[in-house]
Amino acid sequence: MKPIEITPGIYDVGVNDWNISDFHGYSTPFGTSYNAYLVLDEKIALIDTVKSGFADELLYNISKVVDPKKIDLVISNHTEMDHSGSLARVMHRIGEDKPLYCSKMGEKNLQRHFHRKLNYQPVANGQELTIGRRTFTFLETRMVHWPDSMFTYLKEDRILFSSDGFGQHYAGHEKFDDQIGDAIMPHAKKYFANILMLYAPLILKLIDKVTEMGLGIDMICPDHGVIWRKNASRIIDAYGRWSRQESKPKALVIYDTMWHSTEMMANAIASGISAEGVDVRPMYLRKWHRSDIMTEVLDARAVVVGSPTLNNGLFPTLADFLTYMKGLKPKNKIGAAFGSYGWSGEAVKVIEKELTEIGIELVEPGFKVQYVPDGETLDACYEYGQKIGRAVNG
Ligand code: FEO
Repeated sequence: MKPIEITPGIYDVGVNDWNISDFHGYSTPFGTSYNAYLVLDEKIALIDTVKSGFADELLYNISKVVDPKKIDLVISNHTEMDHSGSLARVMHRIGEDKPLYCSKMGEKNLQRHFHRKLNYQPVANGQELTIGRRTFTFLETRMVHWPDSMFTYLKEDRILFSSDGFGQHYAGHEKFDDQIGDAIMPHAKKYFANILMLYAPLILKLIDKVTEMGLGIDMICPDHGVIWRKNASRIIDAYGRWSRQESKPKALVIYDTMWHSTEMMANAIASGISAEGVDVRPMYLRKWHRSDIMTEVLDARAVVVGSPTLNNGLFPTLADFLTYMKGLKPKNKIGAAFGSYGWSGEAVKVIEKELTEIGIELVEPGFKVQYVPDGETLDACYEYGQKIGRAVNG
């Protein structure tokens, strides 16, 4: 990817990772990008680096604009290795004595990653750094997405360098939101649901804080995906909605099946939910990736989960999914559990326990069927779905 001058004197020198398909458990069929930004002024600043393995490409991109040795300082907004993996190599190339600005936690975390002495310059929340006619302001954004995370705001250009915030796992030749249009929103939503949902309360506070500070923002430059320049408020508004976890009249029936019995139940329950006018989607765990399901969970009101009983417990795909969902802490959901069993039938109880621990309100008792449901039982599943549908509407 050639460097792109995003505004006079500021370049995206990052790289596209076209081939990554799994980003720590999140499916990325469209790849991702690791954005890094070069700001030219009396001093030259590099904001963030890229994943290890892409260092040469980053250095090549920088060299298309300026000799890397001329970089005066580096800002590390976030320690996670997709942004810092090439930091040691880049510092070696530009000069290890050059100042490396990061949050206080960033200094600790970078040391714990790289175990080498660099010229760390930890900054406080709100601290400014002038590089000529331009001034950076550092904003602590703990847990968006790690304890070390910060944003860097450039007031003269009204640009927010937002690290993981407002990002999308998307590799493309488009570099700006106006070049891709609405098609970017599902990627932004998936990113929020799988990376940031857990921190939704902190993001709401952060949006309030940025609003109170009255920062003028013309452009948001995240470290993944496209830059928001046409309408930065669109993604900020979406983050507000997603952080409040506002739900739609929508239900998901998430399940796996051994001999199709739990599948038959899932389809009958989904039909019953649909009969109440609720948008419902059966999601078979061996068809849908956990991260695509979580994207749907973000704005669903009901999460109905089904598992056959295997070896006195959950089917393994359900254990995987429930662990993943529990970690992301979805809010404002109702749910129910169902499943077929042969002789012991523990899975439904386990699902109910997990859903309760997540904070999902159970609106119907668990529904268990021994072996294969007959027509009468499928009618009962349908009615069970209708009750859930009414609860969604209620
Ligand atoms: Fe893109 Fe939390 O790293």
